[in-house]
Amino acid sequence: MNFTIVAPRSLRVGGGTLAQLPEVLRQYGIARPLVVTDPVMVKIGLVERCLDALRQAGIAFEVFSDTVPEPTDTVIEAGAAILRRGGFDGLIGFGGGSPIDTAKAMSILATGTAPMRDYKVPFAADAAKLPVVAIPTTAGTGSEVTRFTVVTDTARDEKMLIAGMGALPVAAIVDYTLTFTVPRRTTADTGVDSFTHALEAFVSRRANPYSDAQARAAMALIGRHLRRACAEPDNAGAREGMMLGATLAGLAFSNASVALVHGMSRPIGAHFHVAHGLSNAMLLPAVTRFGLAAAEARYAEAARIAGFAREADNDAVAAEKLAEGLAALNAELDVPSPRAYGIAPDVWEAKLPLMAEQALASGSPANNPRVPGKEEIVALYRAVYAANA
Ligand SMILES: NC(=O)c1ccc[n+]([C@@H]2O[C@H](COP(=O)([O-])OP(=O)(O)OC[C@H]3O[C@@H](n4cnc5c(N)ncnc54)[C@H](O)[C@@H]3O)[C@@H](O)[C@H]2O)c1
Ligand SMILES: [Fe+2]
Repeated sequence: MNFTIVAPRSLRVGGGTLAQLPEVLRQYGIARPLVVTDPVMVKIGLVERCLDALRQAGIAFEVFSDTVPEPTDTVIEAGAAILRRGGFDGLIGFGGGSPIDTAKAMSILATGTAPMRDYKVPFAADAAKLPVVAIPTTAGTGSEVTRFTVVTDTARDEKMLIAGMGALPVAAIVDYTLTFTVPRRTTADTGVDSFTHALEAFVSRRANPYSDAQARAAMALIGRHLRRACAEPDNAGAREGMMLGATLAGLAFSNASVALVHGMSRPIGAHFHVAHGLSNAMLLPAVTRFGLAAAEARYAEAARIAGFAREADNDAVAAEKLAEGLAALNAELDVPSPRAYGIAPDVWEAKLPLMAEQALASGSPANNPRVPGKEEIVALYRAVYAANA
């Protein structure tokens, strides 16, 4: 079996590792960084922990804090214009997946003058203007270690997947102490996102021994810590377990792929502005059930590792417990159906053919153990509409 392994050149992992930022910048020859973050990081003062580390080391920096949740091409264009003017030799993506993805996309877009949509898959976005050091503040996307960035095409209401070495950070600092302030809803959504990354990588047609090892470790950590991180936001052990799990899940899917959940999730995010992890959660039980028979042993192993099934359960029982367990988890985490979220039935129904086309065009559904056609995707969207309401 042939496969490729990609990962940042270094990862600093653990409580307090943010203090090592100046040393990391020195290792990669970054003397004048642009810090990319969002208004919440500024408002709650979290970004000051990053900026203080820079100030204490005498490093000159500027801050771009106009990032929006689920980044748009217009914001990326504004950020890339700053990079084209020059004066910086590196980027620090500080925040959840949105600021990290913004930093990556800015660096890719600043290599030329083409619009962002020219870089979407199947284009190989291998070039970037400046190196990115990623510092996540959510335990979720794994963007700090992935070769992906996701940007919304505002003219077409499409969440574009951009993939290539240009999107891979050179280094990441994974410091769970940055996550204590994440609200319950976001802790739940980002946590389910990271579990989805690990599970989809594990059942992917492009899984390999490296991604399997990361996915197994991630599912064990997330299975053990997700509920507690939601219920007890100050629980350091739960936050640490979730943060490591999310990063390992990122390594898993960056080296295998995501699959049908993510393929169908991006159109929900683009058309209805549902947070990424939440749209994944809405889909996860039904899409898992759709694929169960095609990869029963894999789903069963995932169920045992994550604690949804017992070691003694045979594959059929364990796989079934996974689908049931994911639905129960949604109920426990108060995940609304699209209907309960407030999406009107006629609006949902009218968008389904386009959403199914966009899901298929992203390429992710082709990695699923059971590959659906357009009509099957429409049927799945219909099935989840009122589920868990
Ligand atoms: N590049 C990848 O490989 C990849 C993978 C999955 C998802 N994504 C993308 O990442 C984005 C979602 O990222 P996300 O789920 O991390 O959410 P996010 O970055 O949009 O953050 C969600 C909210 O939580 C706030 N927040 C973040 N950290 C916080 C903290 N420590 N304390 C308090 N509030 C905090 C943010 O300000 C924001 O309001 C989506 O655009 C999604 O498509 C990218
Ligand atoms: Fe995701």
